[in-house]
Amino acid sequence: MAHERAKDGLAPRLTRRQFAAAASALLFADWVAGAEDASKSPPIGPRVGPLRARDVLNVRDFEPLARAALPPAHFGYLATGIDDDLTVRRNEQAFGDYEIRARRFVDLSHTNTGITLFGAHWRSPVYLSAVSSMRAFHPEGEAAVARAAATRSAQMMVSTGSSVSLEQMVKLRSAPVWQQLYPTDDWAITQALVQRAEAAGANAIVLTVDSTATAGARNSETLRRAAQTDSRHCPACHVGNRHDMWLRAPLFSGLDVTRVRGLAPPALTLEWLDRLRHIVRGKLFVKGVVTGEDAQAAVAHGADAVIVSNHGGRNEETLRATIDCVPEVVQAVKGRVPVLMDGGVRRGTDVYKAIALGASAVGIGRPQGWGLAAFGQEGVEAVLDIYARELEAIMRQAGTPSIGAIGARAVLHRDRA
Ligand code: FNR
Repeated sequence: MAHERAKDGLAPRLTRRQFAAAASALLFADWVAGAEDASKSPPIGPRVGPLRARDVLNVRDFEPLARAALPPAHFGYLATGIDDDLTVRRNEQAFGDYEIRARRFVDLSHTNTGITLFGAHWRSPVYLSAVSSMRAFHPEGEAAVARAAATRSAQMMVSTGSSVSLEQMVKLRSAPVWQQLYPTDDWAITQALVQRAEAAGANAIVLTVDSTATAGARNSETLRRAAQTDSRHCPACHVGNRHDMWLRAPLFSGLDVTRVRGLAPPALTLEWLDRLRHIVRGKLFVKGVVTGEDAQAAVAHGADAVIVSNHGGRNEETLRATIDCVPEVVQAVKGRVPVLMDGGVRRGTDVYKAIALGASAVGIGRPQGWGLAAFGQEGVEAVLDIYARELEAIMRQAGTPSIGAIGARAVLHRDRA
């Protein structure tokens, strides 16, 4: 399919007409494939009229739309896991092992999906987790995501590798954001990034502890496979065909990065965490914890929140879904700080299950990229609306009209019940 080069030369895009045609055909094809066994399905024809963001029925349906809208390498970057991508898939599938115990005889006159976290009111427990380089998905990149977050009052975690500056993000979101931190292996850079983020108005620093591979060492096979099918000339946008974020992300602008070799220090120990805690004036969250032992240690060393995450299965092929890690982390933390989680959350029922298992809030990664690639700001808004709608629906159906009412007995693990 012919691509049209975007005005800023960043990401070749389909024309609107090409996209609408591809989009309808893709969703139609998926639907037919899914309906193969359903002998009683009514006869179906192709969609009438162009597809708008609000017509997309569920979060997963945005993925083929993003695939149609993006050049192969950029879609590969969004989709990739590590090795065989099995952990990516486990993150999603494992939610299916939990069943919801729906209760009746409950007054549902008022339902409320809101929460209060770190003194702030959120309309929904779903937040936008860090996703780097989002101008690879849409010319407006993170700016469109920030505007969507503003219209939906969603909390944003801005990536160290954001392609839009933090100052602009804070302005567009018109509320404090969290700054995710890849500290690099140069302490001078770590200090500068923390100072810059706090000065720009980030009210939390989120240290990612699961990205220990040195530059180029991550076995992102899906990305590499996709890149091999992409005929575009990458060095046109990527300096020297290098993709290291410290060479291009605005958060690093003006800093001397000549000594940087990786996104994290080779010894990201608890002593190193103490050192960071010492320079972070606001809140410090630790993202990428998957065991009770590490959660306990992070809290003992000053973390204000622990985020259960395996980076969307992008860093290590453990086959362990994050939803399965939530209970041991919650148990280890013993309520001292909030536990957040991300990974494979695609339905309102997934959000519900994470909360029942003890998470205070739930992050999404790829779905914001899918919505953004397909429809820009409106796509991200539509994705957030679907989570909100589905969460409210299951809260009503399960007889839990508030987030606080979703207790541990609201879900059962199929094999451990
Ligand atoms: C990420 N993620 C991520 N995490 C982080 O701490 N810093 C980052 O810069 C990025 N960048 C990034 C880019 C892309 C393209 C993806 C898909 C993900 C991980 C992200 O914050 C989150 O942990 C996972 O994406 C959650 O899993 P799902 O929702 O993608 O399944």
